[in-house]
Amino acid sequence: MAPAIEFSHVAKDFGGRRVLADLSFAVARGELVTILGSSGSGKTTTLKLVNGLLTPDGGTVRVGGKPLADQDLVELRRHIGYVVQQTGLFPHLTVGENIAVVPRLLGWPKEKIQARVADLLALVRLDPACADRAPRQLSGGQQQRVGVARALAANPPYVLFDEPFGALDALTRQELQGEVRRIHRSLAGKTFLFVTHDINEALYLGQRVLVMKDGAIEQFAAPAELVAHPATPFVADLLATVQQNRALWGWQDD
Ligand SMILES: Nc1ncnc2c1ncn2[C@@H]1O[C@H](COP(=O)(O)OP(=O)(O)OP(=O)(O)O)[C@@H](O)[C@H]1O
Ligand SMILES: [Mg+2]
Repeated sequence: MAPAIEFSHVAKDFGGRRVLADLSFAVARGELVTILGSSGSGKTTTLKLVNGLLTPDGGTVRVGGKPLADQDLVELRRHIGYVVQQTGLFPHLTVGENIAVVPRLLGWPKEKIQARVADLLALVRLDPACADRAPRQLSGGQQQRVGVARALAANPPYVLFDEPFGALDALTRQELQGEVRRIHRSLAGKTFLFVTHDINEALYLGQRVLVMKDGAIEQFAAPAELVAHPATPFVADLLATVQQNRALWGWQDD
């Protein structure tokens, strides 16, 4: 079976500056892959190349086995959920209406939309009464739950997350990381690409972690493999910070 998402020698330039160079990787259907890298390493650019918000200046991006250049991007984006840090919720719509945006666009009947909103609120563990509230009446963590529900509304096979929990406090963030893992497991076969600059988040969530630096891949491997065999000094340094944290938190270990 073709990979769900495949980059072959992808390059991207901004204003004559190459920010991604010769990026090649493949994500299998149903995988949860985290993309880890420091600010400016090209993580958001990579995600936007997947949903066609950006087009490559070299190489090929394939989603579902087919080059993006050969796909109707409006149609494709309906099959790709997108969760961003600022939630992007419409402030003048209720939570329920926010979740229903894509099903409405798809012309679903009203009853089906209502049932879907109720199911999704349950999936992200929000009170059903939230549906009628305005986003600003929810906490930051609850708003991100709505963002996740909205991204999943039309049951897309692919979901992209761009540092969705970056602005949340540590505890809320941990809670939502657990939710993403649970949701990914419960919705078999969906491919999640999750961008973060937090190594703990990347290792906890990712079945594989794609480590980026300066627009190139340092290593793409399962967390245990990264820890056992860091491929570059950069990856080794990143992991050293985790080891340091472990030492600091040693009293918490079993
Ligand atoms: N529209 C744009 N025009 C010009 N340069 C851009 C544009 N978008 C991104 N860049 C540059 O491309 C590089 C990669 O940016 P990108 O947003 O992908 O990084 P990132 O890894 O997502 O960083 P962060 O963690 O800060 O979100 C950066 O140097 C950035 O300044
Ligand atoms: Mg970014």
